[in-house]
Amino acid sequence: MLRSIRGATTVSNNDASKILEATGELINHIIRENALDISQITSIIFTCTKDLDKAYPAVSARKLGIIHAALICAQEMYVEGSLAMCIRLTISAEMDISQEEVKHIYLRGAKGLRPDITGASGSDFSVAIDGPSGVGKSTVAKHCAKELGFLYIDTGAIYRTFAYYCMESGIDITDQSQVDKIADTASIEVKFVNDRQIVYCKGIDVTGKIRSQLVADNTSKISTIASVRKRLVAMQQEFAKSQNVVMDGRDIGTVVLKDSPLKIYLDASAKIRAKRRSDELESMGQKADYQMILKEVIDRDHRDMNREIDPLKKAEDAVLIICDNLSASEVSAAICAIARKRMTLKRG
Ligand code: DC
Repeated sequence: MLRSIRGATTVSNNDASKILEATGELINHIIRENALDISQITSIIFTCTKDLDKAYPAVSARKLGIIHAALICAQEMYVEGSLAMCIRLTISAEMDISQEEVKHIYLRGAKGLRPDITGASGSDFSVAIDGPSGVGKSTVAKHCAKELGFLYIDTGAIYRTFAYYCMESGIDITDQSQVDKIADTASIEVKFVNDRQIVYCKGIDVTGKIRSQLVADNTSKISTIASVRKRLVAMQQEFAKSQNVVMDGRDIGTVVLKDSPLKIYLDASAKIRAKRRSDELESMGQKADYQMILKEVIDRDHRDMNREIDPLKKAEDAVLIICDNLSASEVSAAICAIARKRMTLKRG
């Protein structure tokens, strides 16, 4: 029977090789996920948003050896609020499965549907992941985002960038009035390039610099301040309006995405988390003092869980996953399975 498979991807600029590479990646992904043979494909319709015109995406299908299928490319009408630099396609293929079993694929944050089609916002699903430091949230969230075709948003990195700004600007983070004064205006920015989150402080990319222990400790302190949380929560909610996201942090299920259809709370003992952190440092050739790391983990947990505003806690409706004896891929697979089930139910 003839079946239709949908797919979409994005590129970071209007460049011929990027358009062809991203389209080829998308077609390959669709072929793999649906166990297709290219001889089953009868036609492909490609569309590009108006900001992409340097290459016909259909060329990448020919490059993959899809020579018998009918191909056509068209430019989309511009719709306010829709994703930029997006390539969409529909593949028609002879398949032995039902239309419901077809796997549609969205890569590089292209899950956001056109607002005219969804009726309102560009997002219709999100995954909110919370848990203490070092539990593996970001690894798991990244896996899930890739697998589901959602955008991964690391909210810890946004708090870290704010702390970095304070450090660079000579703000005394123990003096709340100093932080309150700059909370709304501090020059921090977050951008997504090819699905990778880049953070800027005063216009400079500090994505790598915010990873130090000193920044982590200061972040845990500034994240207790209401004016800081107010600005950063609003920023995070704005990102999730226009696209489907996997977001990780401490207050995602309880505050930022409190209506999220899927909330996950990851937990593991402090000892296991400290051991993983010290193994990680050692594998990078750095010295690791397990006892000190354990103390830092416990101190950070205490601060994150006992602060007055938006403390780390499991949302009542969150799924609890204890990660002590599970690998990151086992945890991600479990989350993706629940997400797929809930998406099917939600979308009918
Ligand atoms: O996840 P991380 O280690 O990068 O987070 C750094 C700090 O930021 C952490 O101590 C708590 C704080 N944080 C927060 O308060 N709320 C979030 N949504 C994310 C992080």
